[in-house]
Amino acid sequence: MRKPFVAGNWKMHGSKASIESLVKGLNEQANQVQNVDIAVCPPAIYIDFVQANLSADNIAVGAQNVAEEPVQGAFTGETSVEMAKDLNCAYIILGHSERRAIYGETDAQIAEKTKVVLEAGLTPILCVGETLDERESGVMEKVIADQLDAVIKVVGIDAFEKIVIAYEPVWAIGTGKTASPEQAQEVHAFIRDKLARLNRSIAEKVIIQYGGSVKPDNAAELFAQADIDGGLIGGASLNADDFMAICKAAS
Ligand code: G3H
Repeated sequence: MRKPFVAGNWKMHGSKASIESLVKGLNEQANQVQNVDIAVCPPAIYIDFVQANLSADNIAVGAQNVAEEPVQGAFTGETSVEMAKDLNCAYIILGHSERRAIYGETDAQIAEKTKVVLEAGLTPILCVGETLDERESGVMEKVIADQLDAVIKVVGIDAFEKIVIAYEPVWAIGTGKTASPEQAQEVHAFIRDKLARLNRSIAEKVIIQYGGSVKPDNAAELFAQADIDGGLIGGASLNADDFMAICKAAS
């Protein structure tokens, strides 16, 4: 019923040379994947270069973050959602744990950014997830509920029809320690149930990606879980063969 969605988050990786070769690999293999929505999210400075090199019409482009200020202005170093839109981005990753932990983004700021992205007509990929400490001390569900509630408070539950959620346990990101399919499914079901209490039909439609050390050899069992609708892929999205293998596992 829900179409799987796999997105690559390239984080702060790449050069013109490496990106040209990565995009060439994606172009060559993209037609092998059917019935999966696919996106890549390069560093902002390379978005236009990716668009110029990408010929696969089933791969969309997204950005990894935008400013919460909706309009142009004196915000040195920031990228506005209108700029991302101008470069034909379809998606914006928001609230990634690296933005939260390293750059101090708060739930409230992420909610504001979600609003700005929705108002621009783009799709937020809203990241939520707990740290290992939070999981082990039993507050995992509260942390994730608070992250979602902050956004629901600002944009309302109906807006989740146009939001993709990415569940990313912080302890699984870039560590090689993926959540087991059962651990991931448990949290995905918690997220969907929470939304269902507010609007069942939206909860059934919302795409919930899993992110955290997804690789070609563990993707299929994660994506086979009832409430896992694809993935947000970091390291493995920097290799065209691995990324396309993960996309195929979602089909
Ligand atoms: O946005 C992607 C996630 O942070 C996952 O990264 O696949 O390198 O663990 P990873």
